[in-house]
Amino acid sequence: MVNARALLVTGGAGFIGSGYVRYLLRNALADRIHVLDKLTYSGNPTTLDSFSDDPRVEFIEGDICDPATVNHAVDGCDAIVNFAAETHVDRSLFDPAEFIQTNVQGTLVLLDAARERTGTRFVQVSTDEVYGAVLDGYSRESDPLYPRNPYSASKAGAEMLAISYAETHGVDVVITRGSNTYGPFQYPEKFIPLMITNLFERKAVPVYGDGLQVRHWVHVDDHCSGIDTALRFGASGEIYNVGSDDERTNLEVVKQVLSLVDAPEDLITHVADRPGHDRRYALSSEKLRGIGWEPKRAFDEGIADTVRWYRENRDWWEPIRDGSFQEYYRRNYDNREQAHPGARREA
Ligand code: NAD
Ligand code: DAU
Repeated sequence: MVNARALLVTGGAGFIGSGYVRYLLRNALADRIHVLDKLTYSGNPTTLDSFSDDPRVEFIEGDICDPATVNHAVDGCDAIVNFAAETHVDRSLFDPAEFIQTNVQGTLVLLDAARERTGTRFVQVSTDEVYGAVLDGYSRESDPLYPRNPYSASKAGAEMLAISYAETHGVDVVITRGSNTYGPFQYPEKFIPLMITNLFERKAVPVYGDGLQVRHWVHVDDHCSGIDTALRFGASGEIYNVGSDDERTNLEVVKQVLSLVDAPEDLITHVADRPGHDRRYALSSEKLRGIGWEPKRAFDEGIADTVRWYRENRDWWEPIRDGSFQEYYRRNYDNREQAHPGARREA
């Protein structure tokens, strides 16, 4: 067992990274947490408010690509958990270079910092997307990788680097590959919070293609407990899937959200599909269960809680949906409307 009590959490102002900080605090799993985050568009200072008063947490604003910042942030820590990343597939189709810079170069800088500090465990938070589309069955950790978009290619690249540092420099690396995650504090460009926030405003919900793509949905609290299990009980050099059995088509998810917010089905708008859209992801998490992990939140209950959270926390998401979000929304969805002239416009 790795008894990590002082952790560097990168990307801790984002969705899952902040969930992980709250998870550590709630379960008294750390005495010291250094949160390093660049506060990009998806990193939110208001999210930090949920733990900024806790004396165990120190926030450092900075870039994981900057070695001096990273060396300062990792000082005194016995583990690094790397959440920091560019994370939205659609954005990676517009600006792939940003994804390579943060997701690959940034991971390299963090690995170098771990290499210089013998005994530091390095957890690379990765994704089920590295397997590519899985039409039947379930991905296992030993399956070949076939990333099919620039985001997942950058995450696969980061994993390869991490493994190479374990093999050549003896860095104590563990990799997690998580399923699609949902819950509070998720930036509203992602599917579930986009659906919820659009529907609160009785705006159309854009469904890519036929909407029959399949995802497995894991609640953010379960994803965080999975990462923590891998950190503390995972074997060095190993990879652990963090998935759920909650398999849904996108249309099923939208219809469930529609019913939770009591909105009519004619707000569903099919728009042009995402290029290279992976039809299905599905993980086997048997290996992680074998070291003690178990997800606790069923989707039906978790999605109802999530809708409630967005209903009660408009102060968090309404400001985000202004300004640069609208610019992104037009860039991503206007072309789709041209392909589907009947599609509705507003975000
Ligand atoms: P997010 O976009 O909500 O948060 C990313 C955070 O990283 C933001 O706070 C951002 O400011 C920060 N960041 C970006 N570039 C940075 C840089 N150069 N230096 C420092 N900080 C930087 O993302 P998320 O959904 O919370 O994802 C967290 C991690 O989990 C990512 O590595 C992602 O690949 C992985 N993941 C996400 C999901 C999912 O469904 N959301 C599933 C599996 C794995
Ligand atoms: O699977 C794990 C991955 O999940 C993470 O690694 C990524 O960081 C995270 O962004 C997420 O990627 P996806 O592309 O699967 O998630 P997204 O929320 O963008 O989309 C979920 C599904 O919904 C996908 O099939 C695309 C579809 N979709 C998405 C949007 C934004 C729509 O139909 N319409 C939309 O407007």
